[in-house]
Amino acid sequence: MPKLPAAPRLTVPPAIDPLNVFPISWPKSPQITYDLFELAKAQAWDPEALPWDTLRDAKLSADERLGIGYWFSVLGIFDAAAPPVFAHALIEMFRHKEEDGVRKCFSTILRDELNHEEICRKATMACLPGNPYGPLEWTPNTGLEKLAFNNIQWAYHNGARYWDGYVKAFDKYPFAVMFTSFLMGEVAATTLFNEMGKAGRIPVFKEAFQRVSRDESRHARMALYLTKRTFPNLPQEQKEFVTKQLRAGFIFLSLILFKPFPGKFWELPDTFVDAHDVLQQAAQSGGLGVLPLKEREAAWRNAMLKVKKTVEDYGIAFPAMPEVGLSGQEVAEEDLETIVPVF
Ligand SMILES: [Fe+2]
Ligand SMILES: [Fe+2]
Repeated sequence: MPKLPAAPRLTVPPAIDPLNVFPISWPKSPQITYDLFELAKAQAWDPEALPWDTLRDAKLSADERLGIGYWFSVLGIFDAAAPPVFAHALIEMFRHKEEDGVRKCFSTILRDELNHEEICRKATMACLPGNPYGPLEWTPNTGLEKLAFNNIQWAYHNGARYWDGYVKAFDKYPFAVMFTSFLMGEVAATTLFNEMGKAGRIPVFKEAFQRVSRDESRHARMALYLTKRTFPNLPQEQKEFVTKQLRAGFIFLSLILFKPFPGKFWELPDTFVDAHDVLQQAAQSGGLGVLPLKEREAAWRNAMLKVKKTVEDYGIAFPAMPEVGLSGQEVAEEDLETIVPVF
């Protein structure tokens, strides 16, 4: 056993880069963050335990099954892309010494999104021809299958475009600014999935949508906490970015929550919109619970109005969204590239 000196001469280690994940510390965060963390644990669920046999046994035409597989392929751009988005955010939160409770909540959001991804995986596998392991890993044969495959290719091309911008934006903006359109997505998704859970006829999807909706409403509460914490002290330049973010998020998320807007961020072929409508209608006729266009529009507008009220309370201009009848500040087309919206 070495003998330790009574008055040791200690050396101090070199300084740590402040954006390292060290030093780890756990100063107490506001109680709401720990409450949401506890709620997430209490509401944990397992996609495997859902009644998938009700999808296998559902009496669906080939087009209806294709339509449902197509719908979940498109949903995958948003919900199945969420795990890397939140994983990246979580690492950045450790680097920037985000509050302990917020980091904990984001770890549960990441976990939730893995479940949402799993729903997309299982639904596409069960519904796309040949039970493929991915929405692009099958060979289309009929005319409608070829259109569906082509639409998924184009949708995924666009989904891939936002990743670089997302990663770079972390160097420029605080989380709450980046996640403003995430707030919009969470609020809208809560409503959408809740309504789809009620309107659907296939038990496995009704149950899945109810659980996803509950998760998204918890994510929305987390996003709202971040918003309220950060917005009172936001510099003007960042307020302007929030306005652009909201417009970009609206255009991006509209593809699944409302309808596609080709040309505004979305690079889509001429065949896209008609094929999308036909496939979505087939999914609806199969009992997926896709809402009629008018109801999607109303749900989307209501979500926008909630977000509008939140940001305007902090002196942030809300963008014009004439597509759903909301007036506001005009945002240039080229500013729509700065997006971070998933849900
Ligand atoms: Fe979410
Ligand atoms: Fe999600």
